[in-house]
Amino acid sequence: MKSEIDRILVADDDAVIREGLRRILTAEGYEVEAVSNGRLALERLEQKRFRLLVTDLKMPGMSGLEVLKAIRSCQPELPVVLITGYAAIDNAVEAMKNGATDYLAKPFGNEELISKVKNAIESRAVLIDDICMRREINETHGFDNLLGASREMQRLYQRILQVAPTDSTVLISGESGTGKELVARAIHAHSPRREQAFVAIDCTALAENLLESELFGHVKGSFTGATQTKCGLFEVAEGGSLFLDEVGNISPATQAKLLRVLQQRVVTPIGSTKPIPIDIRLVAATNTNLREMVRQGSFREDLFFRLNIIPIDLPPLRERKGDLMLLAGQFLRRFAEENGKEIRGFSPDVIEQLEHYSFPGNVRELENLIERAVVLSQSELIQRQDLEMPGDDLDEYASVSKTAPLDVSELKERKRLLREEAVVPLERAFLLSALDRNDWNITRAAEEVGMQRPNFQAMLKKQGISIRTRLME
Ligand SMILES: Nc1ncnc2c1ncn2[C@@H]1O[C@H](COP(=O)(O)OP(=O)(O)OP(=O)(O)O)[C@@H](O)[C@H]1O
Ligand SMILES: [Mg+2]
Repeated sequence: MKSEIDRILVADDDAVIREGLRRILTAEGYEVEAVSNGRLALERLEQKRFRLLVTDLKMPGMSGLEVLKAIRSCQPELPVVLITGYAAIDNAVEAMKNGATDYLAKPFGNEELISKVKNAIESRAVLIDDICMRREINETHGFDNLLGASREMQRLYQRILQVAPTDSTVLISGESGTGKELVARAIHAHSPRREQAFVAIDCTALAENLLESELFGHVKGSFTGATQTKCGLFEVAEGGSLFLDEVGNISPATQAKLLRVLQQRVVTPIGSTKPIPIDIRLVAATNTNLREMVRQGSFREDLFFRLNIIPIDLPPLRERKGDLMLLAGQFLRRFAEENGKEIRGFSPDVIEQLEHYSFPGNVRELENLIERAVVLSQSELIQRQDLEMPGDDLDEYASVSKTAPLDVSELKERKRLLREEAVVPLERAFLLSALDRNDWNITRAAEEVGMQRPNFQAMLKKQGISIRTRLME
């Protein structure tokens, strides 16, 4: 399935090779961006999604291998083709061990380049090993049970660490399934209250009067059904943290009472007159926009301000797609283990499908999807038919992502023109740039690229390169 033009990133410090690669790959119909060093490559990869990285192994500053390692920890699904020097086969082996998809040894011809690029893009199965084993899941990739290496998630971990030691009330907002409860638990786990209780209550789950009695407690006989004196959750959480989930669903009457509790730091159980002082850390969560509810008059503004001391907004999964395969891999490993299935990874079209889906149900939806796929799977790679995804979403994506329908004949013509333009074969470019760097001293040039002088010379001859070429160029 090719729903958009495949975008390839090329990184090479040698301008001649870089431009050669750009031309040839562009002529093949790929969209190519080229950068001159490893750091720039990583920057581009953070900003945009690419189908493939073709990078030189030896670059000043940051080598291709270092780039590869950095990529493997945040975008394990990105195939990488490394370009190695003639004599650098050891490096190539090292590179493959570190997760390179393939390598090209200099000098290589156009056809070899094109076929390796094609293969690398098409064989993009993502193995759990790539995601989970090579990656040491460390503090930048996850935090407690939260997983995610994206910038947004790293900012979140920082934020949790900052607020956890304090007693300030936190309001966590985010769409359904973005991990609000995990964040609330992480805050508690890193707070001085961690030895005390973490008490969670879903404010939607209980009818209005029950919610009040749950929160504040009641004395025996205070209402029909109150046959026993019951301690409220504020008391149960004494010394610990109380997590009010879906706080936007609290009725106006309970909102007023909650506000009083927060202002006075005491609770009065229903039917009692004796206020009990409380010492709790309050964490609230909402998947609705509370500010908007305040504007519409369905949520008290004063309560909102009391809750919103430290706001934490969780990004939806579709806005941090870089974390997608990390999460998917982790879930796959977990469910495969739980189900006693030997599943090694995802087939290439599954990855394509996951990447194009918008995940309205966020991480929870992904988790459920993978669990179902594991149960259904009959092979060692999760296949497209194992993923029961709402298909329309994909089509919708395809139609927006295509700016204009591509006319095939037009594309062919464009390809032909570009191919004609790509006159300098890569092998030739390789030789010329080696000679240039060595002041056209053949012995030194051969040495630099690690070739025997006679072989180097034979290659020069094949490409029709002689000292006259130098004068002509
Ligand atoms: N960053 C994450 N890393 C790993 N698992 C996650 C992450 N975010 C969410 N999950 C998983 O997704 C599921 C939903 O998470 P959680 O219950 O915390 O979301 P929520 O925002 O509270 O959702 P809701 O609004 O529907 O209550 C859980 O099974 C959780 O383990
Ligand atoms: Mg929740």
